[in-house]
Amino acid sequence: MTQLLNGNKLAIDIRKEISKEIEKNIRNKKKRLPHLGIILLGTNSSSLTYVNSKIQECKNIGIESSLIHLPNDSSERELLKEIQKMNNNPLIDGFIVQLPLQKHINSDKIIMSINPKKDVDGFHPENFGKMSLDMNAFFPATALGILTILERSKIEISGKHTVVIGRSRIVGRPISILMSRKNYLGNSTVTLTHSQTPNIDCYTKQADIIITAVGRPGFLTGKMIKEGAIVIDVGITIVKDGKKSFLKGDVDFNSVYGKASYLTPVPGGVGPMTRIMLVKNTLMAALNR
Ligand code: GUN
Repeated sequence: MTQLLNGNKLAIDIRKEISKEIEKNIRNKKKRLPHLGIILLGTNSSSLTYVNSKIQECKNIGIESSLIHLPNDSSERELLKEIQKMNNNPLIDGFIVQLPLQKHINSDKIIMSINPKKDVDGFHPENFGKMSLDMNAFFPATALGILTILERSKIEISGKHTVVIGRSRIVGRPISILMSRKNYLGNSTVTLTHSQTPNIDCYTKQADIIITAVGRPGFLTGKMIKEGAIVIDVGITIVKDGKKSFLKGDVDFNSVYGKASYLTPVPGGVGPMTRIMLVKNTLMAALNR
């Protein structure tokens, strides 16, 4: 039997906890509400969807958000100017630049220009490095969301073999670092696989926990996992069927459901947890103000 891990339900619990904390440590102390800035370049439909849902999450919790939406052909210099404005604006506690960026923009340069104290995505090398060294920092929201799903579902990580599929900076790399840390919610033996790994199924078949983040609908099939594996699906691809469009995960649901012990659905699994963790990071930035 497979138990679906309901990210929507967990996110509701965490939303309540964050609201309480805002009441206690911000409103009661007559402090300014946390404020998240978002910079979006262009009109990529996935990015627009993500950004709108992040803004909605801020509204749900009652924190402030501001969107700077730049045209598709904005130059790197224009983007850097907006980042400097956010860095220098005392009313913005934390901000993100929605990724991926257009090819004419150097993403490394953009990420490096964000003040690490406001980098609520945790992508700046200072935060990423601190995370790798077990120091306090902002951790990427999706990785935090995955850890929180596992923790709140009482799924033991320590001593388990985790296979991560995909080495992106947004998900694959940070989650493999966090799960292998000598720490609470760590101590897993992690194998990081990617597009150049031959015979990926040799690894996935041995995994107690599989985290897949490749953005290929239906990539992970039941034949690739062992009975009772815990499967976390981070893939979100918009698939068009005639006039309708659907969100599809990396997991081939029909063949994995029934074989895995736990599975995160798409939608309603990791996605809502990612959004709430971004708000949590923004609250942290506001409390560190
Ligand atoms: N694109 C997809 N996921 C993310 C994320 O977590 N942060 C940013 N900035 N861009 C993304």
